[in-house]
Amino acid sequence: MPAPTRSVRLNERVAAMQPSATLAMKSRATEMRRQGHPVVALSAGEPDFDTPDPIAEAGVQAIQDGFTHYTENPGTMELRQAICDKLQRDNGLDYAPEQIVCSNGAKQSLALTLHALCDEGDEVLVPAPHWVSYPEMARFAGAEPVVVSTGVEDQYRLSPEKLDEALTDRTRVVILCTPSNPTGAVYPPEELAALAEVLRGYEDVFVVSDEIYEYVLFDAEHRAFASFPGMKERTITVNGFSKAFAMTGWRLGYMAAPQPIADASAKIQGQFTSAPSSISQKAGVAALEMDLDPVEDMVAAFRRRRDRVLKHLRKIDGLRCPTPQGAFYLYPDVSAFFGTQTPGGQTIEDSEDLCFYLLEEHHVALVPGTAFGAPEGLRLSYASSMEDLETALSRIESGLAALQ
Ligand SMILES: Cc1ncc(COP(=O)(O)O)c(C=O)c1O
Repeated sequence: MPAPTRSVRLNERVAAMQPSATLAMKSRATEMRRQGHPVVALSAGEPDFDTPDPIAEAGVQAIQDGFTHYTENPGTMELRQAICDKLQRDNGLDYAPEQIVCSNGAKQSLALTLHALCDEGDEVLVPAPHWVSYPEMARFAGAEPVVVSTGVEDQYRLSPEKLDEALTDRTRVVILCTPSNPTGAVYPPEELAALAEVLRGYEDVFVVSDEIYEYVLFDAEHRAFASFPGMKERTITVNGFSKAFAMTGWRLGYMAAPQPIADASAKIQGQFTSAPSSISQKAGVAALEMDLDPVEDMVAAFRRRRDRVLKHLRKIDGLRCPTPQGAFYLYPDVSAFFGTQTPGGQTIEDSEDLCFYLLEEHHVALVPGTAFGAPEGLRLSYASSMEDLETALSRIESGLAALQ
């Protein structure tokens, strides 16, 4: 007989931390599939494409060449130089390799920079709907996340007025994410310029600009926040390879930061994990140097799917959804269904109930808005085949139609 599990006193911050809701939804959907239910999961946060060949081949080559040892802690000089070249070429930003820290995914880059910057009592402004991990990371770094809500009427973008209102003398960091997970919203350059103008009045506030979906863009322009006058000195640009190059499993991301923040982040990394995988770093160099045709093909496929899904969703009464201009998510406001009843007599109180109902009764996995600090909506990821999307959409439509 296995020994009974003993309760263990855990670190308070770990005990208070919420598990990632997107990962939780994924495992529930997987479990239901294992039980034989034909679940279509639109909950994934990753491209459904494989890593392009030139990148995969560079990884294989690295193994065959014996490039399998520890590298310099912030990443190889070759990769950091390739990242500097990318930042210059795409974003007009001038960085030295010493200002780049490569990590095990952008997730780690974000965690490092928040730990490097925040102290007990500091505030981290997080516009919502927000990516699931920002508030938990801020809390874990000892800071207090301050969620600033935006809605469909704002196109899910933070306005300068809301930013100004939320800033206090305790604000240490403002997190921006464009294109956004979970809404697909993209800030136009003039709106970023207006946010930068507000921040000019607050010298000690830093901006963590998460630009991981930079290449997954439809009819919109991406501007790096650090490229606005006076912002480079106070912006930590976080980016990575997971989304644009379909490299989620390779675990490679990076930050470009003012020198003291890059140094502090590298110091933490040196004690906690060391450099990311040597093999992934070689693959990362190949990604930055390759012809972007495979990326463009992937983005074109996302765009076709976005159009298809939006067209269908817009026919459903009660759903409100702005047109996303990037990433691979839609974030419909579903609050019109709160207070309705399922055929089984259960009341839908919030988006969590709605997602649970759609999963259990109609076999579609979505992620409830509670995970993103915006409970009136839910996230639909269209990183799935057109066929799965069609199936899911008709199930969602009939599931919603059955609510009274
Ligand atoms: C907005 C955003 N930032 C960061 C990440 C982390 O990406 P990774 O750690 O795979 O580089 C993700 C992944 O879901 C994301 O959506």
